[in-house]
This record gives sequence, structure tokens and C-alpha cells, in this order.
Amino acid sequence: MDLFSSISQRKSCRKYIEKPLSSAELEEVKEAIKGFEPLFPDVTLNYRFVTSTKGMFNVKAPHYLVISGKGEEGEQENAGFVGQQLMLWLNARGLGGVWLGASKDAGENRKPSDIVVLAFGKVQGSPNRELSQFKRKKISEITNDTEDKGVNAIRIAPSGMNFQPWYFEKKADKILVYRQILKPPMSIIYKLTRVDIGIALCHYAVASKHYGADFNFQVGGSAEEKRGYEFFGYANIID
Ligand SMILES: Cc1cc2nc3c(=O)[nH]c(=O)nc-3n(C[C@H](O)[C@H](O)[C@H](O)COP(=O)(O)O)c2cc1C
Repeated sequence: MDLFSSISQRKSCRKYIEKPLSSAELEEVKEAIKGFEPLFPDVTLNYRFVTSTKGMFNVKAPHYLVISGKGEEGEQENAGFVGQQLMLWLNARGLGGVWLGASKDAGENRKPSDIVVLAFGKVQGSPNRELSQFKRKKISEITNDTEDKGVNAIRIAPSGMNFQPWYFEKKADKILVYRQILKPPMSIIYKLTRVDIGIALCHYAVASKHYGADFNFQVGGSAEEKRGYEFFGYANIID
């Protein structure tokens, strides 16, 4: 399924129809998750469906997916990468979703290694918006190559508190990926910038596929330091 068109039409949905999806529809969601590519195949995540969550900025929805790990490196980026594929998939089916970074499973299965929650279901109103309605940084604030198709797909990606904590530097045949290091007080209230990087890379991967290019991401390697940012890795460019 080409998820590309959902990138430029999706929005965070915060008003849901109370009626849950049928068990067959929920089964399709589970199957879809199994089919999504991870960013790091060796980093395992667990997916749990719950019906009640709590926390600041919580949104009432018929379904919640809790993504959890074991506390290992790469889990947050993987959660962003896989979770955003689900968000685009839901949008492509006329359903809505919203990431909930501050929400926790309200049931007894809550674990310290839970990473993030996604709410989803049938929405009141439309799950879509016009491209002109996205509130985002200018492309020149997040890259030195404003024409890059993949970075243009990242520009409109969702991020916690809409911080867009990323910079993408084109160098030779690579896109260098940097994560912004938030300063207090933002860094105290928001700790999921690694999930945001995974979401950004998901948009890059979906755009790569759409334009017929490979998506290869390498974590680490050498790169010039960028003040206020941490180098994360590099991807191949889309030509
Ligand atoms: C990791 C993450 C955590 C988020 N947490 C919340 C949240 O707790 N509550 C909420 O209403 N929205 C949350 N959002 C949604 C963002 O506020 C939203 O993506 C951003 O403002 C951009 O708007 P858009 O998604 O409609 O394009 C979160 C988004 C991400 C990616």
C-alpha cells in the first residue's frame, strides 16, 4: 500500500466516534503492524492494545496502542518509525490517530518500558487537512537542500509539541540526520525527540519508496558537529 499521499493530508485527530472498530477491523490493524518495516530489525518492540489511558494531554479514543520495549537503544526511533507507518495506514483507510507522548496505560499491565501511546479510531469530522494548513518550520530551517523530496516529506511530519527537533544536511550523496537537543524547560516536559526522529525517517522512507529509490539508513558514522544538535546517522538521497 502506498502511504505517500497520506503524508500531505493527515492531521492529529482528537475527536472520535465512541463506537469501536469491529474485531475484524482491529485484526487488520494488527496484521498491518506485523507487515511494517522496522528501522532497526534487531531491536524488538511489543504492541499492546488497551482501552483506557491517562495523563496530561490525553485524548479520549476507542482504541489505544501502547508500544513498549526493554529499555534498549534504538527502541524509541523504531517506535516512531513503525508507529508513523500505522498512522499513515489508518489515514489511508479514512481512520484517524494521534500520538500521545504524555499518556500512560491506565490498566494494570502498564510497564516502565512502555515507550509511547497512539490513540486511534473512527473520527468525528475529517481525518484530513489541506497542505496549506500544516503549521511547520520553513524548509530552509531544517535542511541545506530545500529541494530534497524526502526532506520535504519530513517537513510536514508530526512531532511532540510540534517541536520538529531535526536537521537534515545534504553532503555528497548522503543526508546526514541530526536530532535537536532540547534545552530546559522543554527538555524537562518532553523526552521523546528520538521517537520524533523515527517518525521523520518513516516519512523519508515512504517518500523514497514512492519515488522508486532505496531507503538505507546507517546509524552512527562521522559528521561535523552542529551546535544544539546530536548527529544520529545518515540516509541515501532520493534521486
Ligand atoms: C511523539 C509525539 C507525542 C505527542 N503527544 C501528544 C499528546 O500527548 N497529546 C496530543 O494531543 N498530541 C500529541 N502529539 C501530537 C502533536 O501535538 C502534533 O503531531 C503536532 O502538533 C503537529 O500537528 P499535526 O499532527 O496535526 O500535523 C504528539 C505527537 C508526537 C509525534
